[in-house]
Amino acid sequence: MLKDQKIVLTGDRPTGKLHLGHFVGSIKNRIDLQDKVDMSFYMVADIQALTDNANNPDKIRSNVLEVALDNLACGLDPKKTTMFIQSEVPEIAELTVLFLNLVTLARLKRNPTVKGEMKQKGFEENVPTGFLIYPISQAADILFCHGNIVPVGEDQKPMIEQTNEIVEDFNRFYGETFKKVKHLIGDTPRLIGVDGNSKMSKSLNNCIYLSDSYEEISKKVMDMYTDPNHIHVNDPGKIEGNVVFTYLDIFDDNKEEVEELKKQYEKGGLGDVVIKKRLIEVLEKIIAPIRARREEFAKNPEAVMKILEDGTKKAREVATSTMLEVRKAVKIDYF
Ligand code: TRP
Repeated sequence: MLKDQKIVLTGDRPTGKLHLGHFVGSIKNRIDLQDKVDMSFYMVADIQALTDNANNPDKIRSNVLEVALDNLACGLDPKKTTMFIQSEVPEIAELTVLFLNLVTLARLKRNPTVKGEMKQKGFEENVPTGFLIYPISQAADILFCHGNIVPVGEDQKPMIEQTNEIVEDFNRFYGETFKKVKHLIGDTPRLIGVDGNSKMSKSLNNCIYLSDSYEEISKKVMDMYTDPNHIHVNDPGKIEGNVVFTYLDIFDDNKEEVEELKKQYEKGGLGDVVIKKRLIEVLEKIIAPIRARREEFAKNPEAVMKILEDGTKKAREVATSTMLEVRKAVKIDYF
């Protein structure tokens, strides 16, 4: 029984290339988990991406390949992880319709992530229905394959809570069918953007992408905010709120040296350029191999699409079998 296995499901919306925030928030966990669990699924969430991009199908279509490339470049292995496209598994939509009956409108409106996104997008009362209900659709994304481990960024926690409420109600109404789901959040659940103000996010234009060139990384780091009062090398500098040190703390393996640099910086005598140059090298060491693998995969987009096609076939087999179970439980298994 699938229900007794460790099954990972995770996904990305194909709305743009992925960045370092995705990497530390969830991709690292995905890569790590694929060797440790019974099954692992990775979904390109094109249907979810359309919920607030209904008028821009070209954007979603072209980014399907980009997010697949980013994940492959980071080390997702199609032999271990079934990579598939959400819209090509219509059983997910079918399951969503059944789940819709288990969630009230009031509950959906309380979801803090959706609330925040609605505000950011200025939707208010004119929110597209599909967007408002995407947490329900996300529960179906996870449960169609009996996923029970979901490596995601911190912002996705409310989706997991919603999923578990659906599991509870479904099992209560229709008999024990689904297992509760656990989220797994990376060591850095909320990476601050290069602007130092908010979470790294494409819409805020404060990202370092996994596909950035050395020159792009250098420019972004050189423009980083440090301490506005640290004007001359000999001025004492502040560590708190200093994005360069925040990043060094996260990405630099040599913690001792970073601590030493912090002391020097606070005392005075350490210039911004020195720490920025160090950070550029630290980030380049992480991104260079990803970039190189990405370029390799990108040479053959047909092969990447074939990976998604094969994965989708596999995902559909699982989905078909789950839907048989679900239809029986809900007593809509007529013929
Ligand atoms: N909502 C996720 C994001 O914006 C993407 C996603 C869709 C997802 N379905 C999922 C993540 C199921 C985990 C599980 O990044």
